[in-house]
Amino acid sequence: MQQATILIVGCGDVGSTLGQMLLNQGHKVFGLRRNINQLPQGIQGISADLTNLENLKAALAEIDDCHILVYTAAASSHDEEGYEAAYVAGVQNTLNALPSKPKHLFFTSSSGVYHQNDSDWVDETSPCEPKSFSGKIMLKGEQQVLSADLPSTVVRFSGIYGPDRGYLINRVRGGDIAPAEPLHFSNRIHRDDCAGVLNFLIAKVLNGEAIDPCYLASDSNPVTMHEITTWIAKETKSQITSETVSRRAGSKRCSNKRIIEAGYRFKYPSYVDGYSELIDLDQESGDK
Ligand SMILES: NC(=O)c1ccc[n+]([C@@H]2O[C@H](COP(=O)([O-])OP(=O)(O)OC[C@H]3O[C@@H](n4cnc5c(N)ncnc54)[C@H](OP(=O)(O)O)[C@@H]3O)[C@@H](O)[C@H]2O)c1
Repeated sequence: MQQATILIVGCGDVGSTLGQMLLNQGHKVFGLRRNINQLPQGIQGISADLTNLENLKAALAEIDDCHILVYTAAASSHDEEGYEAAYVAGVQNTLNALPSKPKHLFFTSSSGVYHQNDSDWVDETSPCEPKSFSGKIMLKGEQQVLSADLPSTVVRFSGIYGPDRGYLINRVRGGDIAPAEPLHFSNRIHRDDCAGVLNFLIAKVLNGEAIDPCYLASDSNPVTMHEITTWIAKETKSQITSETVSRRAGSKRCSNKRIIEAGYRFKYPSYVDGYSELIDLDQESGDK
């Protein structure tokens, strides 16, 4: 495979993990974010603000041979302004600021673009009619990317978990689980698989293989919130003191058939694989 120049814009948790994978394969990796102090060694940091076109132009002036642009920025605030800035204007600003067009653009989106709430399966062909402002703006970002004048691919992640993303474990350790009723299916993907899926698709593009315009990236085991929280309670020996209905997203099951059929193998196909490791790590650090 050729050595490529890859720019990761919004190089945070997923972007940095991806960057390390790409570095290990001998690619040249740039990571753009406002605060570049935390970037892993080897990723060449570019400090710039996506909301400021002039700042971006100056920062990206030297990147004139970008093969792959991976856009993984996340909104800084959970409101319309923050979402528009991160998922719509930021992408446009990046494309306008780069001295030349990349050969392929990847945009990380979310399963939040689906409106379905009947616990049925959804995939890349399912209709998306989100009611929330976040889903609507994310979908607008996807459409902008897919209609841009360059080959592009949207990767929709479900709920990301992993090291330093211990929300669910902390909730259960605090004694709270989700009730069995109402039925609420949830979907998740480990941070390493988010990066793994992107790495896998980038390799295909660099090898000249065709890929689809959209992939839904979620592990192979959608489960109810009740099942996963009950399982974590058992594994962490937490005493259950409350049951809270949390319906941050509609109840649906995300199918990963397309990315599996493309050949990707999940490192953490089920929550059991990923959360077992996180709970073990927690226990190890607690023992120190
Ligand atoms: N969290 C989830 O469960 C979930 C689910 C589905 C999809 N996603 C999507 O998955 C992608 C990757 O997520 P992640 O967890 O890796 O996010 P993350 O760790 O928060 O990284 C995003 C990065 O974007 C940078 N950024 C934000 N605003 C910026 C700006 N104005 N200018 C320059 N950089 C900016 C931030 O760095 P600085 O603050 O240093 O600028 C941050 O490091 C995101 O697109 C996210 O929306 C997340």
